[in-house]
Amino acid sequence: MKIYILFLTIIFLFTETFSASRDPVRGKNGMVVSADPIATKVGLEILKKGGNAVDAAVAVGFALAVTYPAAGNIGGGGFMNIRFADGKSYVVDYREKAPKSAKRDMYLDSLGNFNSDKSMFGYLASGVPGAVAGLLLGLEKYGTMKRDKILEQPIQIAEKGFPLNYRLASYINSEKEIFSKYNSSKKIFVKNNGSEFLENELFRQKDLAKTLKRISEKGRDGFYKGKTADLIIDEMKSGGGLITHSDLENYEAKIREPLVSKYREYEIISVPPPSSGGTALIQLLNIVENYNLKSLGHNSSKYIHRLTEAMRRAYADRAEFLGDPDFVKVPVNWLISKNYSNERRNTIDTLKATPSVMIKNGAPTNYESAQTTHYSVIDKWGNCVSVTTTLNGGFGSYVVVDGAGFLLNNEMDDFSAKPGEPNMFGLVGGFANAIEPEKRMLSSMTPTIVLKNGKPFMVVGTPGGATIITTVLQVILNVVEFGMNIQEAIDAPRIHHQWLPDKLFFEKNGLAVDVVENLRLMGHNVVERGGNSGLAEGILVDQKKGIIFGATDSRGYGTAEGY
Ligand code: DON
Repeated sequence: MKIYILFLTIIFLFTETFSASRDPVRGKNGMVVSADPIATKVGLEILKKGGNAVDAAVAVGFALAVTYPAAGNIGGGGFMNIRFADGKSYVVDYREKAPKSAKRDMYLDSLGNFNSDKSMFGYLASGVPGAVAGLLLGLEKYGTMKRDKILEQPIQIAEKGFPLNYRLASYINSEKEIFSKYNSSKKIFVKNNGSEFLENELFRQKDLAKTLKRISEKGRDGFYKGKTADLIIDEMKSGGGLITHSDLENYEAKIREPLVSKYREYEIISVPPPSSGGTALIQLLNIVENYNLKSLGHNSSKYIHRLTEAMRRAYADRAEFLGDPDFVKVPVNWLISKNYSNERRNTIDTLKATPSVMIKNGAPTNYESAQTTHYSVIDKWGNCVSVTTTLNGGFGSYVVVDGAGFLLNNEMDDFSAKPGEPNMFGLVGGFANAIEPEKRMLSSMTPTIVLKNGKPFMVVGTPGGATIITTVLQVILNVVEFGMNIQEAIDAPRIHHQWLPDKLFFEKNGLAVDVVENLRLMGHNVVERGGNSGLAEGILVDQKKGIIFGATDSRGYGTAEGY
């Protein structure tokens, strides 16, 4: 007995809680968390030099474009959610747009069948990139440092090279065949002599360095006009792509108002359309708020049942109503109202699953595939920035702009290519998200900031396509309902349901066998998912102790660094 007590005391001395994860990283002044260790360091340096969270976030964004080519990008787009310590908050929307000559049925063959190869790979898959416009708009309006200072490090890393991470080297090697289809991409991602990229090998990107220099010198004109624009258009012409000079010149990032809501005593700040993320996240939180989740136990069948039923309903609404607000009227206020969620909750049977066919509200959504990236930053003043950015699929369209050294996105696949019909993932899309010239395709990205007592509490987000929203939901609930620290909250196994297909996914080994059995008895179609659900990057502030905790998802190889 004595030995047992001694053992417990020793454990208690060394750990604050009985954690199944490593400890989160701690900082007193600021924190940067990203999916790539080099990019995290770039951001931290900016904070230490006195930059604010926006300065650091923009630097991380450009660094990821160099060191994390599968998702970090200048050829894609994203959303930057900013909340200043003085209470003001803004969202920079730099989502890609369909080129002006895009047509609703551009991915349908002569029989009207959807050809997803065209929306996912190659020249027709790309929307007009928004990343450079968005990062620079964010910097100009809300940052404090000069552009050239922010781009200094990313340019150097591109020019001098960086040692390849094992996972990145393996990922690039595994895509050799598809990169080889495009001469420009082959030059960069496939070795001449047929050998493979090795861990720690120096990866240099001279053309990309030159592009970044043009951006550093000329601002957005260094990308949307002049040499870079010419190179993009040449690349488009070489493969039958649609993007033109005027598409590039006309692209504009937009400042939008964030969506704000309450969950118990917490304030949730997230992103509005054209992402569905903030709307669906708030709707989900509203639906589950009236349950006593804590008493049900984390990842118990009763807990998962309630989450699943909420997800099924929120995703049915997402599919019907969400699209680019510049093109379709999105009833956001109604969707995120407590009243509407009460109505939705009232249709949930707490003992059995409601088959998705019985949930009405529309045509479902596109599915999104495997790569995007998120980063979270907080500075010494308490300003928070939460950014999710993407090329859509890993390495986007796989097309590198020859001479400019960066990959273009395949974001066009996020549109509903054929409203009402299933796409290659068995999912269908709604009218609100049909292709139209210059429209932004619907996103699920959910960069989110949570406040407690009006002060920063969490900064969180993740990649993962359709699973982004449910991942952010679960990370938040893990903290606020189950008292997990940020590392535990991010590492805990996750589930996902998106209305259609009517499947309740769980991560490999993520649920106990009896929990799965219980869920099946309740009528759920429970499916173990190959691979992971997302790569969350989060910050949690202990307001009493004044400690900032950072955590990167153990599913990836990112880092959190504070000071
Ligand atoms: O905007 C979106 O929702 C998608 N393009 C994101 C894709 C994604 O997260 C893939 N990553 N794992």
